[in-house]
Amino acid sequence: MDFAKMPELRIGNLKARLPIIQGGMGVGISLSGLAAAVANEGGIGVIAAVGMAMLKPNRQKSYRETNIIELRNEIQKARTLTDGIIGVNIMMALTDYEALLLASVEEGADIVFLGAGLPLKVPRLLTPERLRDGATRAAPIVSSARAANVILKSWEKYNCVPDAFVVEGPLAGGHLGFKKIQLDDPDYTLERIVTGVIETVKPYEQRFGKRIPVIAAGGIYTGEDILKYLQLGVSGVQMATRFVTTHECDADIKFKQAFVNAQKGDTVIIESPVGLPGRAIKNTFLEDVSAGAKKPFKCPWKCLHTCNFKTTPYCIALALANAQKGELDNGFVFAGANAYRAKKIVSVKEVFDALKEEYAAAIGDSSSERTVQYEELSVA
Ligand SMILES: Cc1cc2nc3c(=O)[nH]c(=O)nc-3n(C[C@H](O)[C@H](O)[C@H](O)COP(=O)(O)O)c2cc1C
Repeated sequence: MDFAKMPELRIGNLKARLPIIQGGMGVGISLSGLAAAVANEGGIGVIAAVGMAMLKPNRQKSYRETNIIELRNEIQKARTLTDGIIGVNIMMALTDYEALLLASVEEGADIVFLGAGLPLKVPRLLTPERLRDGATRAAPIVSSARAANVILKSWEKYNCVPDAFVVEGPLAGGHLGFKKIQLDDPDYTLERIVTGVIETVKPYEQRFGKRIPVIAAGGIYTGEDILKYLQLGVSGVQMATRFVTTHECDADIKFKQAFVNAQKGDTVIIESPVGLPGRAIKNTFLEDVSAGAKKPFKCPWKCLHTCNFKTTPYCIALALANAQKGELDNGFVFAGANAYRAKKIVSVKEVFDALKEEYAAAIGDSSSERTVQYEELSVA
């Protein structure tokens, strides 16, 4: 075995050459372009299902219908661009969550990542019977061992367990599954949470005779970070921020440029209409909103269970869609805490090459550290 190479990632019958999942990024930041490019490099590429209709000004059909049509199109498009593994990220807070899930399963997405809410009931469309026939795996996104345990307990009643867990820590971009005060609390670091989730899944793995890979997400930026989390016992990592500044990322160049221009300290925590805090790059739009300004809008359709469109100061779907199109004055950019580290826009292949190199270098360092410790011990 070549230890300088990253191990593969297995989730059920899926086998990714590299243990790297590209985190789903809505609205329209990770579509078929980015997802296919990541899958072609041996990772798992993920299309974000949220709000696709917002990007289609000339749509002929309702928002709900357009979302489904566009999601189907994007999955099919990705399939023409890659033979690799393609997943779909679906937020449970969406009012069309079930319809998006059904479309993903019907289109044969390899895996669905279920975030922004806890899938306590096994989604009707992902029962063990259905999963045996179809090919779609299911991985909930959680931010605590407690949440993982609640899901495992409730799925156990249906005699099944999730195929994997993504554990998202406080440094992630987009919506965060934490209270604002927990974000800087040392009890809530990704390292701690991920270790707790690994312990939580163990008895279920034994009972079900099935591996439940745990994936770490949030603030993982380099090959060295990947090594660190693999050494903590995860099977893979999910990364989003590092993939924004690629040519293949599906956002407008101005969106990507906002990352390149960001300095350390330029990310802020916002209270989103989704009902969760979120991390974004500060800009005039967000400053206006936090100073109490209202950004008038007509609710196109009630996309979120949690949004009170009569009182919310702005429409988050519209703001994110505007940002995706490069209209940053009328929106804002979600970003992870590491957004400031991007120096230029590169290809997805260049990101993967760099990650592999960084990983190999870190392995070299950590094995020489091990040698030193061993020599010291043998001297003693
Ligand atoms: C621009 C952006 C949009 C995101 N949108 C979503 C989303 O729609 N659904 C979701 O579950 N996570 C979303 N995330 C979170 C990522 O999928 C990922 O888990 C997280 O950002 C990983 O941390 P990192 O950005 O530090 O690598 C988003 C992140 C970013 C940066």
